[in-house]
Amino acid sequence: MKCSGCDNAAGNKALVDEILQLKKDKKAVILAHYYVDGVLQDIADHVGDSLALAQKAADTARDADIVVMCGVNFMADTVKVLCPDKKVLVPDAAAGCSLADSCPADEFEAFIKAHPGYTVISYVNTSVEVKALSDVLVTSGNARKIVDSFAPDAKLIFGPDRNLGAYINSVTGRDMLLWDGACHVHERFSAESIAALKEKYPGAPVLVHPECKRPVVLMADKVGSTAVLLKYALDSDSDTFIVATESGILHQMRKGAPHKIFIPAPPTDSTCGCNDCNYMKLNTLEKLRDCLRDETNEVKVDPELAAKAIKPIERMLLLSK
Ligand code: 13P
Ligand code: SF4
Repeated sequence: MKCSGCDNAAGNKALVDEILQLKKDKKAVILAHYYVDGVLQDIADHVGDSLALAQKAADTARDADIVVMCGVNFMADTVKVLCPDKKVLVPDAAAGCSLADSCPADEFEAFIKAHPGYTVISYVNTSVEVKALSDVLVTSGNARKIVDSFAPDAKLIFGPDRNLGAYINSVTGRDMLLWDGACHVHERFSAESIAALKEKYPGAPVLVHPECKRPVVLMADKVGSTAVLLKYALDSDSDTFIVATESGILHQMRKGAPHKIFIPAPPTDSTCGCNDCNYMKLNTLEKLRDCLRDETNEVKVDPELAAKAIKPIERMLLLSK
C-alpha cells in the first residue's frame, strides 16, 4: 500500500538540488517531523519526533542563520522561542494543529484559575500563549518521565490532549485533571478496524500513538511517540506490524526495514488505508524551496510572550535528559 509518506526524492532531483544549494548559500538548517512527506524527511538535516526536534532546535540549529521547520506551526513557534535570534521559516503558514486549536488560551487560563494549587503540565502541541501559562511542557516521548518527576500526591492539570492524559494517568497511577482536547487524526482510528487487521495479520504487533482513544491504546503491543514506535519496529523480530499513527512515519519504517511489512491502520471515516494529517501534508518540496529562496513565512513570536514560554520549554528539556 502506498502512502504520501512513501515518496522519495529521486523524481524531484532538480528541485532537491536547488534546495540543497539554497540551504548552503543561506546557512540554513532544515528540521522535519516524521509526519511530513518522505521527500521532505529525506532532504532534512534532522528528522524526528516533537521531542527530538525541540532538542535539535536548542542544540545544532543555534549554528545556523535560518531554521526551516517542515512540520506544523506549534513546532516552528517552539524553535523561535528557543532560538529568538534566528530567522525561522515555515513552508506553509497555514500548517496548524487541531489539537492546539482545541485549547484556546483564554479558556485554558480560566480552567487553571478555577483550580488553584495545581501544577500545569501541557503537551507541546499548543499555542505559545498556552505554553506561557504552563509550568512544564511535555511531548509524547517524555510525558511519563516528567509526570513521574512530581510527588505522588501533587495536584496536576494536564492539557490539552485527553487521550495522552488518560494514557499517562493509566501508566503512572495519577489522577491528573484533563483538558478535553484531541487530535483529529488520531481520534479517527478505531478498535474495530484494528481488530479486523489483527485477524488478517495474526501475530503482527500493533503500534499505537498515545494520542489515540483508549480502546485503541488497549489493543497496542507498543504505545509510544513516533520515535519510540519507529525504534520498536526496527528492533523487533516480527516482520509485519499494524501502525496506528499518522502515515508519514511509514516512510522511516520502510526505509529502516525494507524487508518488513507495515500495515497502516485505516481511519474510520475513509476507505483509503492511510491516515494523513492535512496540516502536516501542507508541506511540499516546492513550498520549502519558495520559503527558503524568498525568505517568506517568517515565524514571529512576541518577545514578552516568548520570555514566559521559554521557561516551561527549558524545564522540559532539562527533565528529559
Ligand atoms: P510525537 O512527535 O511526539 O510522536 O507527536 C506526534 C504529533 O502529533 C506531532 O504533531
Ligand atoms: Fe496536530 Fe494531530 Fe496533526 Fe499532530 S497529527 S500536527 S497533533 S493535528
